[in-house]
Amino acid sequence: MNYENIICDKEQGVAQLTINRPKKLNALNRETLKEINDAIKILESDDEVKIIILTGSGEKAFVAGADIAEFADFSVEKGTELAQKGHQEVFDKIAQLKKPVIAAINGFALGGGLELAMAAHFRIASDNAKMGLPETSLGVIPGYGGTQRLTQLVGRGRALEMIMTAGMINANQALQYGLVNHVVPQDELLVFANDLAQKITKNSLVAIAYAIDAVNAFDDKKENGFKKEIENFGKSFGTNDFKEGTQAFLNKRKPSFPNS
Ligand code: COA
Repeated sequence: MNYENIICDKEQGVAQLTINRPKKLNALNRETLKEINDAIKILESDDEVKIIILTGSGEKAFVAGADIAEFADFSVEKGTELAQKGHQEVFDKIAQLKKPVIAAINGFALGGGLELAMAAHFRIASDNAKMGLPETSLGVIPGYGGTQRLTQLVGRGRALEMIMTAGMINANQALQYGLVNHVVPQDELLVFANDLAQKITKNSLVAIAYAIDAVNAFDDKKENGFKKEIENFGKSFGTNDFKEGTQAFLNKRKPSFPNS
């Protein structure tokens, strides 16, 4: 895959998608979003890819937000379209992927950058990371899912404080808020993310896909999450992974899942 603004590598079932505009602190312009959408579609259907790590290029930023230069003269209609397209083609797409997505936040994750990290299934951060939704300082609001996902992750009061102050929190505060699961030294971030990815791929990816689907139902107002859990629990009994996992346990051996 050849791209201008992202780098996509895969090794041992783990794809690393790196946003690569370090001179602009990896800000998300139209082209970059298009490339992310394209790469996600390819990674989704690539059977060799079991799990995806999202990160940013350079030592300073994960992603410093949507590209402000690009939307500075937008009208109401164009602003609405920007958010709608972003939700559909990138942010919701990532959140709804059935393959696990981990965000490895290696520096500034601001605005659309934090929203990208929040669309991932969970986040780890380097100790220099700084996170925030500074949109109100620009006279707009978060438009790539930030008002909803930050509220779900950290609670209404903390989300509103972050949005209203437009301030940044550091990695340890993010850990305390539950916004990230781990904080590690910057030079260990990708090794840590990869180790975690390898641990995940030892489990049934079919079951993990059902679990992501059920967990996502938690914040989908059209879904009954408990019903979805019952449905997906039942479906997993019809899979080869279920047969393999239970037989391995009963025969006191490690499971070998066909897709893992
Ligand atoms: N959109 C477009 N360009 C951006 C950007 C963004 N969101 N964030 C950073 N950049 C660009 C800068 O304009 C600068 O480009 P230049 O060298 O051509 O002037 C380059 O990236 C480096 O950024 P700079 O501001 O010089 O770095 P800094 O270390 O002084 O500050 C930040 C870092 C992250 C605090 C600062 O860049 C910033 O506040 N960025 C915007 C964050 C934001 O509001 N994001 C939400 C957007 S909705």
